[in-house]
Formats: sequence, structure tokens, C-alpha cells
Amino acid sequence: MSQLNIVILAAGKGTRMHSNKPKVLHVVGAQSILGHVIACAKSLNPHKIIVVYGFGGETVKQAFAHEDIIWVNQAEQHGTGHAVQQAVPHLEADADTLILLGDVPLIDAQACQKLVAQAENKLAILSFNKADPTGYGRIVRDNTGKVTAIVEHKDASAAQREIREVNTGIMAMPNVHLLSWLSKLTNHNAQGEYYLTDIVALAVQDKVDVVAEITSDEWSVTGINSKTDLAQIERVHQSRIADKLLQQGVTLKDPARIDVRGNLSCGRDVEIDVNCVFEGQVSLGDNVRIAANCVIKNAVIAAGTQIAPFTHIDDTQIGENARIGPFARLRPGTTLAADTHIGNFVELKNAQVDIGSKVNHLSYVGDATIGKNVNIGAGTITCNYDGANKFRTVIEDDAFIGSDSQLVAPITIGRGATIAAGSTITRDAPADQLTFCRAKEQKSIAGWKRPQKIKK
Ligand code: UD1
Ligand code: CA
Repeated sequence: MSQLNIVILAAGKGTRMHSNKPKVLHVVGAQSILGHVIACAKSLNPHKIIVVYGFGGETVKQAFAHEDIIWVNQAEQHGTGHAVQQAVPHLEADADTLILLGDVPLIDAQACQKLVAQAENKLAILSFNKADPTGYGRIVRDNTGKVTAIVEHKDASAAQREIREVNTGIMAMPNVHLLSWLSKLTNHNAQGEYYLTDIVALAVQDKVDVVAEITSDEWSVTGINSKTDLAQIERVHQSRIADKLLQQGVTLKDPARIDVRGNLSCGRDVEIDVNCVFEGQVSLGDNVRIAANCVIKNAVIAAGTQIAPFTHIDDTQIGENARIGPFARLRPGTTLAADTHIGNFVELKNAQVDIGSKVNHLSYVGDATIGKNVNIGAGTITCNYDGANKFRTVIEDDAFIGSDSQLVAPITIGRGATIAAGSTITRDAPADQLTFCRAKEQKSIAGWKRPQKIKK
């Protein structure tokens, strides 16, 4: 097989998005519209990927700075044929070219592969049947079913407008022919544009076979022109991810109410309740249960762990059989060992918590190393920040921190130490002792009255 060049057309303005952001940089799932197309292109192992850009040029280029892409500027948009002409200096004479559209994010790599397989000696077009074909180029076939031309809607006769088979814009062909056809395009048509689709009639003239592969997956060839299109495609994308999870045996309470913006890998018998959002790389072990309304990003959650509702997890690793939430917030750098419990309104940041330890209520634990079987009482705060620098708190195995304590870092609470409730601890606390630091006496003032509101 010859080498493959892929040309992605992405110079269109995207006016109907009503956005300052270039159309192709709007996001579906975890990546931009153009990112999806580039990912599909890369999966076909091409020799070159050429992106024809125009509007929002530099921003688009910057978004893919790490990719091996040839960027071609189409300063003025004179049609799809004109767009491909801009890529000519980069097309290799002995290669084949696949044309993709930069605004079609759900493009199916297998369908592309099928076109490419035919492109060695044919012009292969991807088409589909559209109930309302208005606006699309019609696939014209002769009475033997052979494709003879694509006629754009604005140039089509009344009879041609009845044709429901339309052009997706995606096609593949040998460059020897493409280069010659591109040089022959004219703009003598209703829109005064250089139509790429005119190469079909030129192929017929050159006695090069034209095949149209009809896809039944309309979403995979649907372009995005508006926020309505974007929202619809997002739902389709999400429902396809949900279907895959269901097929793998994951229990989704409602497949219409899960959003995966990245990769979610699940073990056996995982259950996910409604309205959960998964971002980045998330891995859930066997029997993990995620309750409703959790947002989980870049996390590894080991077998048997349960996450209660409204929990927010970011860049965190959790061991087996842990109990997290409801309303817990686990921030980056946090590692929880097996059998840990993190309860409501607890925030952890860059905290390493060892086996069996508990932080059950209303606490902030940041930049801390917590040993095994530690109990941290309600309202405990690690004071990790002096306004300029951050310091660590170390709490050794079996320590007990009484409620409403402040541990002013850097500080170490020794193994088996107990901190009395309401203490502000500023120096290391020795192992196995009770340490406290609070007002000596408890006073009561007899006859004291609460202040009264002054009447005006
Ligand atoms: C084109 C096809 C039509 C097909 C339809 C599918 C032509 C002449 N027509 O229609 O047969 O049914 O797509 O959606 O090819 N672009 C550029 N530079 C340009 C013009 C377009 O890069 O000068 C890019 C756009 O960004 C877009 C793609 O090409 O990604 C298609 O352009 P669009 O204007 O949507 O296509 P149509 O001409 O409407
Ligand atoms: Ca269009």
C-alpha cells in the first residue's frame, strides 16, 4: 500500500457558534472538535497530517503545538477545492490522500480505513442517506448505480434535489489523480467557489472508478456549526461511552446521566449512580460504588471502596474498602490507604493517610502525613501555611486528635499521642501522652445578659 497523506479542512469561520473561540477548539467529551479529528487521523498511521486553517489560526496551531502536523494557511476561503489546493506543496506524488473535515468530531476511523483501502486506484467517497438533504452535495449515480458526479445543493436541478444520498465531504484518492484534478477546478458555479466535489466528474472523465461507501452512522459524519449541534453531539458521544460501560458490565443507574470527559476504566460489579462526572484518567476497582453527584478527576480508586454523594476528587489515589464522603473534597497529591474513612465537609490536600485512619467531620488536612489507625476529630485543622510558605504536619500511628484542634506546622504528633479537644498545638507532641493547650480555667459569669438589639 502507498503512503497516506491526510488533509483536514478547518478553515471555516464558524460564525454560528457566536464565540470568540475558533469553532474547532470547542470541546466534545475530553477534547476539542479538531482534537477528535486529529486523533482519528493519527490512528490511521499516515505519513503526513496537513491541517488547512484560516480563522483563529494561531490559537488553533498553539492548541496542537505538541502534534506532528503540517499547518497550511488558507487566508481567504474560496471553497473546499481551494482549501485542498493550499495543501498541494505538501502532497506526495506517490501517496494517497484522505480528506477529513475539522468540524466532524465523531468521525469513525474504521469507515476512513475502508475508504483508504480503496484509494489506491479509485476515488472513494463516504456518503449517507439524509431524510432532509437540503444544503448537502447530492451523489448522482447513473442507471447502473455508478457514481457520476456530486452536485451541490445550490447548483442542483429540481430532480437532483430529490436525491437523498449526500456527500459527507470525506473522501480518499491517489495523489497522482488528485493533483491533476485540483489543477482543473473552476469556480463556475452558483457560489463562485472551487468545489472539491467537482473532482468526481473529473474522475469519470479520466475513467477512474468512483465508489461511494454509504455509512448508516449519521452522527459519525455530522459537522458542528452551532452550539445546538455541539450539545447534540456531546450527548451522542456520552451515550456511546455509557453504552460501552454497560456492555462491560458496569451498572449505571441512568446511562443518560453520566459524563465521561477522558478515560474511565472499571473493574467488575462497579456501580455508578446519577449525575457523576469523570475527568481525565479514572480507574475504579472491582465493586467500587460511586453515589450520586460526584466529580472525579484523575483518580485511582481500589476495589470495594464506596464514595458517598457530592464528593469531589482530584488527582488522588484511594486504597481498598475506603469510605469517602458525603461532601468530601480530596485535592491533588492525596493518597488514602485501605480502610480509611473520610467524612462530610473534610478537605484533604497533598495528604498521605495510612491504613484504617479516619477524618470523619469538618476538617482541613493539608500537607500532612497521617499514620495508621489515627483518629482525627471534628473540626481539626492543619495550619500548613504561614502566609508565605507551606509546612508539613506528621501524625504518627494510633494518635488521637481531639475535636477543634489546630496543629500548627511544621509539627509532629507522636505515636499514640492524644491531643485534647480545642487545643492549638505549636510544638511537637510526644508519643503516648495527653497534650493540651487551652485556657486554663472555665468561668461562668452569673447574671450576664445577652446584648439586645437597639430600637430606632
Ligand atoms: C461541503 C461539500 C458538500 C457536503 C458538505 C458536507 C463541497 C463543495 N461541498 O459543503 O458536498 O455535502 O460539505 O458537510 O465540498 N472549508 C475550508 N475552506 C473553505 C471552505 C470550507 O477549509 O474555503 C472547510 C470548512 O471549515 C469545513 C469543510 O471545509 O470543515 C466543509 O465546509 P462547509 O462550508 O461546511 O461545506 P459546504 O461547502 O457546505
Ligand atoms: Ca456545510
